[in-house]
Amino acid sequence: MAQRITITAALPYTNGPIHIGHLAGVYVPSDIYARYLRLKEYDVAFICGSDEHGVPITIKAKKEGVSPQDIVDKYHIMIRDAFTEFGISFDNYSRTSSAVHHKTASEFFKTLYEKGEFIEKETEQLYDEESGQFLADRFVVGTCPKCGYEESYGDQCENCGTSHNATDLINPKSAISGARPTLKKTKHWFLPLDRYQDFLKDWIVIGHKSDWKPNVVGQVKSWIDDGLRPRAVTRDLDWGIPVPVEGGEGKVLYVWFDAPIGYISSTIEWAEREGKDWEPYWKDKDTKLVHFIGKDNIVFHCIIFPVMLKAHGDYILPENVPANEFLNLEGNKLSTSKNWAVWLHEYLKEFPDKQDVLRYVLTANAPESKDNDFTWKDFQARNNNELVAIFGNFINRVVVLTKKYYDSVVPEPGFLLEQDKYALEALKAYPKIISNAIERYRFREASQELMNLARLGNKYLADEEPWKLIKTDEERVKSIMYVALQIAAGLAIVSEPFLPFTADKLKKILRAFALESDWTWRGIQEGRELLPAGHTIEPGELLFTKIEDGEIEAQIEKLKTSKEKNESEQSVVDPQKETIGWDDFAKLDMRVGTILTAEKMPKTKKLLVMTVDTGIDKRTIVSGIAEHFTAEEVIGKRVVVLVNLAPRALRGVESQGMILLAEDADGKLIFVNPDEKDGLLNGLKIS
Ligand code: MF3
Ligand code: ZN
Repeated sequence: MAQRITITAALPYTNGPIHIGHLAGVYVPSDIYARYLRLKEYDVAFICGSDEHGVPITIKAKKEGVSPQDIVDKYHIMIRDAFTEFGISFDNYSRTSSAVHHKTASEFFKTLYEKGEFIEKETEQLYDEESGQFLADRFVVGTCPKCGYEESYGDQCENCGTSHNATDLINPKSAISGARPTLKKTKHWFLPLDRYQDFLKDWIVIGHKSDWKPNVVGQVKSWIDDGLRPRAVTRDLDWGIPVPVEGGEGKVLYVWFDAPIGYISSTIEWAEREGKDWEPYWKDKDTKLVHFIGKDNIVFHCIIFPVMLKAHGDYILPENVPANEFLNLEGNKLSTSKNWAVWLHEYLKEFPDKQDVLRYVLTANAPESKDNDFTWKDFQARNNNELVAIFGNFINRVVVLTKKYYDSVVPEPGFLLEQDKYALEALKAYPKIISNAIERYRFREASQELMNLARLGNKYLADEEPWKLIKTDEERVKSIMYVALQIAAGLAIVSEPFLPFTADKLKKILRAFALESDWTWRGIQEGRELLPAGHTIEPGELLFTKIEDGEIEAQIEKLKTSKEKNESEQSVVDPQKETIGWDDFAKLDMRVGTILTAEKMPKTKKLLVMTVDTGIDKRTIVSGIAEHFTAEEVIGKRVVVLVNLAPRALRGVESQGMILLAEDADGKLIFVNPDEKDGLLNGLKIS
């Protein structure tokens, strides 16, 4: 019986389209893994779907003035189609708003409830009086109790990944109204993670110390060391799966309770459609379960979901959770809200036949053990120098020469020399080399080994020079071309997990469908003849095309535009400081003034010493603006001066007030400048 394996890829939130970060972190590696295991003839269920509950969706719906259902309908289709276009070969792509999921998640909750696995408790939760709503998850931001990050959400800190209760936040603030929440009593169901602390420690921290990624084990260990506490798995919200037990009216399941169960529902949906039994994929202890996720999901897949599975009792636990780090774009963090991203639907419009190029670049540069950077220059270089110059060039030479010398028929090889045997042996060895990397979740390394096989083919042809020998030794050329053709066929097979569209094209060129031979991973490994003499191939088309500088510059330009837009927007979005009373404001004495003289303070970079006519007097003000203005250009400037600021000595010169300045979008300083045309006299009060 084939080894059964259930592969899950994190269910994307349906509150926006997806970008290269999603592909690089989760979907390309999981797809390589699934395709590879299918080629190895495993019994694979590759499962995903849309995560359609949770606060981000409600927020998006509110912002757009539509219903949450409208939002998820729109993005579910968009995301699903993007996956199809990029060849992500899910066996099923479901959604958590489906009936089967509601049923599965409800039953799961009920089982835990009936087994007494929850603590049912009335506690005080954060409440926004202004909007009349409880504040959980992304409805509330505050300072993370673990790392001090000031923009942590109610359920998870995006900075350190820790998951916490909203009431743990320091200085919480409503994301809806900006108000300081009050506390209000409400009943919820808590999953007592603390009861499972020893189990988690034995299983992951000790048990998987050496075969799981160090970042995953490290995070789990740190949370366990801090001590786990019960976590509420229900919410006072109206978008989600209704709490299916007594007293649950008006409440829904926490999105991170229902979403991972989505893996199970999606498997059920798939099995029903295929006429299979879903249960072994989740309950048979011989099944391997692997979760592909980004690092921000570690706590949910290594602590909360396993505790849910364990508490339920019927389920297997993951064999591995190969979480990736994050991908940056041109040196900056990818961001949906800042439009700092390469959106898949836009990429497809601009590079309509280059899905494999992006897959390859994201794999070769995958954020596997540390955050990594995507740059358009690297994208171009990987395409032009590797896919075109090595892989494409090798195949093109083989196809063109076979056509030229043999009218596209595979020649009968003659006596094989050492170098021919060496090349065929090397071909045989590659599946194992690539397998080893993939099975350790090292997809970068695997993609480089694939390229090495193409390199080997290229070098073999360059060394043997059939184009020279054809004039002197036709028999020898037959052997060379026969060997090169076998390598080309090998590439069509082993490239499939990484470059599925290219592999398909290549198989068509080689007319693999007309052959009986064993075109499998095992086939190459066992040294089967992939392309027999006498078989006709196609004259062929190019597998890859060069990307020109202009195409790359256009992409970089596009990013620049969104950066500029962001910067101008950002300058107005600094959070407002604490409210002050009228009395505080009234204490400030601000006057219109004119700068009369200015000179740079000797031996300093930043300081200008100015005399300012404040209407009250002429006084000295020292200001750190010399990097922004020369002395000459400020003389005569009309400015606003805070005149009753306590004097302060700067490098021995007493500064008697402060000139008001503002920062523009580029971080440059400008004067807060009274319009001279209005004839404002020096000394005029600003109020
Ligand atoms: N929607 C989550 C995210 O995008 C991932 C959910 S994974 C699942 O971060 F396990 F809940 F399904
Ligand atoms: Zn934190």
